[in-house]
Amino acid sequence: DVSSPRGSFILQSGERPVVLLSAGIGATPVLAMLHALAADRSTRQVLWIHAVRDGQHHPFAAEIRGVMAPLTNGHTFVCYSRPTSRDKMGEHFDTAGHLSRSVFDEVRVPQDADVYLCGPTRFMADMKQTLTDMGLAPERIHVEIFSGSDSMSPGVARAVARAPHLPEGDADTGPLVSFARSGIAAHWNPSKYQSILELAEGCDVPARWSCRTGVCHNCESGLVSGAVVYGPEPLDKPADGNVLICCSQPLGDVAIDL
Ligand code: FES
Repeated sequence: DVSSPRGSFILQSGERPVVLLSAGIGATPVLAMLHALAADRSTRQVLWIHAVRDGQHHPFAAEIRGVMAPLTNGHTFVCYSRPTSRDKMGEHFDTAGHLSRSVFDEVRVPQDADVYLCGPTRFMADMKQTLTDMGLAPERIHVEIFSGSDSMSPGVARAVARAPHLPEGDADTGPLVSFARSGIAAHWNPSKYQSILELAEGCDVPARWSCRTGVCHNCESGLVSGAVVYGPEPLDKPADGNVLICCSQPLGDVAIDL
């Protein structure tokens, strides 16, 4: 069976500047957005920022040059971490090294941009932190996990990097999300988390996941108390008394069997 495409990593309409930020093969989903903007002959400010090892590993390089052409307000910036003698600065790439705040300052990442970020997990965490430190609103930084991390099994004793803890910057307001087995009760911050799963990850609460879009049910967990709302809607509802934490948000205080 094949289902239609789904997920929340989609280009937001409007006139805000767009920053498509990727590393390696993480360019794939943001390239689709670039194609959509080019097909519309968008006049939005579009910044394509890409990090990769060298020219030999640079995906879609020629295609991107062609797709950028109809974008009157589009610019690219490519960073090679280890350029070879065949890679020409100014032709194949713009700077050597790694993406950093100084690069973002140099290319003038707009403060009011919608940022779409895809790449290795560590890259995304670093970039998200850098952009947040620069003052971009966390809810405008959209991320796509492209290479799956190890999933984890709830309630099963195994080595984890850190014991469950309150998330960084836990506020004193908002609905309380209790992870019953982990003994953690954290406040829901809708501008920081898109799903209960993201909050669990922020607390290092072990949780199983795979698709993160309400298809596979790998994240299905017991809903001990409270109610949730779904966004996106799962393809199939979980069993009674359960919740799909990857695509749900709490409606008031909730307790999850994690
Ligand atoms: S991770 Fe697939 S449904 Fe939640």
